[in-house]
Amino acid sequence: MKQNMKMTSLAAAAFMASSTAFSAGEVEVLHWWTSGGEAASVNYLKDKLDGAGVSWSDFAVAGGGGENAMTVLKSRAISGNPPTAAQIKGPSIQEWGDLGFLADINGVAKDNNWDGLLPSVVSDVMKHNGNYVAAPVNVHRVNWLWSNPEVFRKSGATIPTTWDDFMVQAKKIQDAGYIALAHGGQDWQDATVFEAVVLGIGGPEYYQKAFVETDMDALNSDTTTAVFETFGKLRQFIDSNSPGRDWNVATSMVINGEAAMQIMGDWAKGEFKVAGKSVGTDYTCTAAPDTSGSFTFNVDSFAFFSQSDLGNQQAQKVMAKEILGSDFQEVFNLNKGSIPARLGMSRDKFDSCAHDSMDAFIASSQTGGLVPSFAHGMAVSSAVSGAIYDVATNFFNSDQSAAEGASQLVSAVKAAK
Ligand code: GAL
Repeated sequence: MKQNMKMTSLAAAAFMASSTAFSAGEVEVLHWWTSGGEAASVNYLKDKLDGAGVSWSDFAVAGGGGENAMTVLKSRAISGNPPTAAQIKGPSIQEWGDLGFLADINGVAKDNNWDGLLPSVVSDVMKHNGNYVAAPVNVHRVNWLWSNPEVFRKSGATIPTTWDDFMVQAKKIQDAGYIALAHGGQDWQDATVFEAVVLGIGGPEYYQKAFVETDMDALNSDTTTAVFETFGKLRQFIDSNSPGRDWNVATSMVINGEAAMQIMGDWAKGEFKVAGKSVGTDYTCTAAPDTSGSFTFNVDSFAFFSQSDLGNQQAQKVMAKEILGSDFQEVFNLNKGSIPARLGMSRDKFDSCAHDSMDAFIASSQTGGLVPSFAHGMAVSSAVSGAIYDVATNFFNSDQSAAEGASQLVSAVKAAK
């Protein structure tokens, strides 16, 4: 009996040793992808890692745009216990790199030719001091208008391509008894709509100067007042239940025909897909008014935090490699509504919205119309983007005049830079 027990525990120990030898470790991954389309996307990453022997510890922090997730990430990092990988984007990657938190994944990047696979507008953001510290999963286009064609038909309205026309069509929709603009009153959603107005009214050159380079002359100009004028006119087209509403709930209002339009990045398409809707018949995607030649880009990426455990270091490398794999880039982006970050991918399985996005990405990169999204952390430091959020949201939720909005923006950006 004693002998038997001894043998069993030896066998168990041997089994455990062999199973650890096969396991490539664990990744704890912080992200904010909790809506239907987002969850379907991130689950594919989990499956891929599972197939590669890496186990997944989910660290999801709900809240569109990721503000809550970033707050939680800071407290974990400060207490000396950051996750293995976290969804961090744009200039924030540099901020975390400067603080010394990030791990270098150059080896994986070199072995898999990331410099050759990624457009430089993407790879530049993934590097800190010339070393890869993050892996990109996609390219989202933010300046989209999502519409329900049936609501338009019933209202005798047409999908607007300019902001002037938007006001005319939105009025018809409202008069027909529908909500013209589905919107969630959260600061990042206010900033997303504001960004579309900045791009449409100011054009990409003004956008770049004022909201990327934070040039004070560009910000302190009549164009900024004109932007706030148009932005302010949108207040009348949203419903009184919008405060606090999540973005995917706003998308569902367009899906179910309660509202005609939503201005949102193409993660909204993930929700139409989960609801079983088809582009062209059930919904349409067009560029936000006056922005058809431009593209506000938002690249989601995972940054890797330095780890002392060798197994976890190995797991990070596997995760980085899987993310740039062509199968992952295809399936993830079909679910997410975005387009692959990796170049040279087949377009066959993607729909017309994705094709439009792919074409606009290339065309706008040649004309200067390709600009980073400030509403999604791609353009300016977190301090400056926070200042823009505050001004946009205060303005949108008050009866401030356009001149007041513009002057508050100038002071807030000046103080934050
Ligand atoms: C964006 C993010 C997208 C999407 C969206 C809503 O900032 O880049 O991937 O998830 O927030 O949560």
